[in-house]
Amino acid sequence: MTSFAQHNFANQKALIRVDFNVPLDKQTLAITDDTRMTAAIATIKKVLNDGGSVILMSHLGRPKDGPEDKYSLKHIVKHLHSLLNDDGKTTNVFFANDCIGDQANTTASMLKPGEVLLLENLRFYKEEEKGDADFAKKLASLGDVWINDAFGTAHRAHASTAVIAQFFAPENRFFGLLMDAEVAAAEKVLHKADKPFTAIIGGAKVSDKIMIIENLLDKATDIIIGGGMAYTFMKAQGGKIGNSLCEDDKLEMALDLLKKAADKGVNIHLPSDSIIADSFSNDANKSTAPSNNIQDGWMGLDIGPMACEQFTNILHHSKTILWNGPMGVFEMSSFQHGTKAIATAVAEATVNGAFSLVGGGDSVAAVNLFGFADKVSYVSTGGGAMLEYFEGKELPGIAAVK
Ligand code: 3PG
Ligand code: MG
Repeated sequence: MTSFAQHNFANQKALIRVDFNVPLDKQTLAITDDTRMTAAIATIKKVLNDGGSVILMSHLGRPKDGPEDKYSLKHIVKHLHSLLNDDGKTTNVFFANDCIGDQANTTASMLKPGEVLLLENLRFYKEEEKGDADFAKKLASLGDVWINDAFGTAHRAHASTAVIAQFFAPENRFFGLLMDAEVAAAEKVLHKADKPFTAIIGGAKVSDKIMIIENLLDKATDIIIGGGMAYTFMKAQGGKIGNSLCEDDKLEMALDLLKKAADKGVNIHLPSDSIIADSFSNDANKSTAPSNNIQDGWMGLDIGPMACEQFTNILHHSKTILWNGPMGVFEMSSFQHGTKAIATAVAEATVNGAFSLVGGGDSVAAVNLFGFADKVSYVSTGGGAMLEYFEGKELPGIAAVK
């Protein structure tokens, strides 16, 4: 691997794997959140400014069986064009209806310095997810160099994210600027964290977060657990959780995690109280209860006021913060207070000098919703990729570039 910043891409065709798997409105197919696109623009512009040309490849959604209009990357071409032409330059953006084959080959070969070609959704071919080497080779033939800037897809060992690497000499493989920034932020938290280091882990299911918690037990000083998963811990300790979410087959494992944490001297913080509701609805009747004493017919849908204060206090004393997963059902206005309180506390800690990294689809959506994205140190574009990174795994899309 060569340093992207130091390389001059003049007269080269750079094949860049980006993660333009952006959410689209179901009816209009308009982009509802373009974070992943804006995050890749610096890499693209650096190649163009050097006098190179760019061939972009990405997936969009999870098409099952070949091309499907709603998953076509043609829906994002116009927006890509506007993002690349916001500085008075004229950058041509072409689109190939198929990521391999004659049209892609011809358009790529005729691409002039400063021009961009976006290829159609890679996942219209089964070969992409299978990591098929022949398919990867066809893609590779389009470019002189391969740049992986798709951090959000780095946990997939697919043709375009990993298998393709073998068709480029090490000096022609690069991390893009987004990949560099993601890895630097994650490494800072995992290996260079100033203490106290608090991890906030939320979301619905414990089962999704076991491995990240296990890995963090060797790194964090404090772990805050919120969201639906907290009730599995409550029940495991003999609490009454009413109709709250619970993974009954994970009770023992929850106790085991608590024991391991105690053995390692890591403080686990569970929400002392909850906002409870008599149905899973924004208009439900609401009340407050201790998280371990919720009556039948009621369920915890957010952390309560005491928990907000308890968690805010911990965060205000933290020097490093990792946040993955919301504290409650923040999509419903009645149950977003806890997640908002945590976002506020993370922002305040950041102003006071803490390094804060937010990642994982839902917590990122939350900081965006509450307007805190520019008040934390780093917002990751990775959901599953970020989670696996913090589970301590080596991501195929990162290993392949090296
Ligand atoms: C994501 O959004 O998680 C990435 O783009 C990867 O997509 P996938 O989960 O469908 O592999
Ligand atoms: Mg995913």
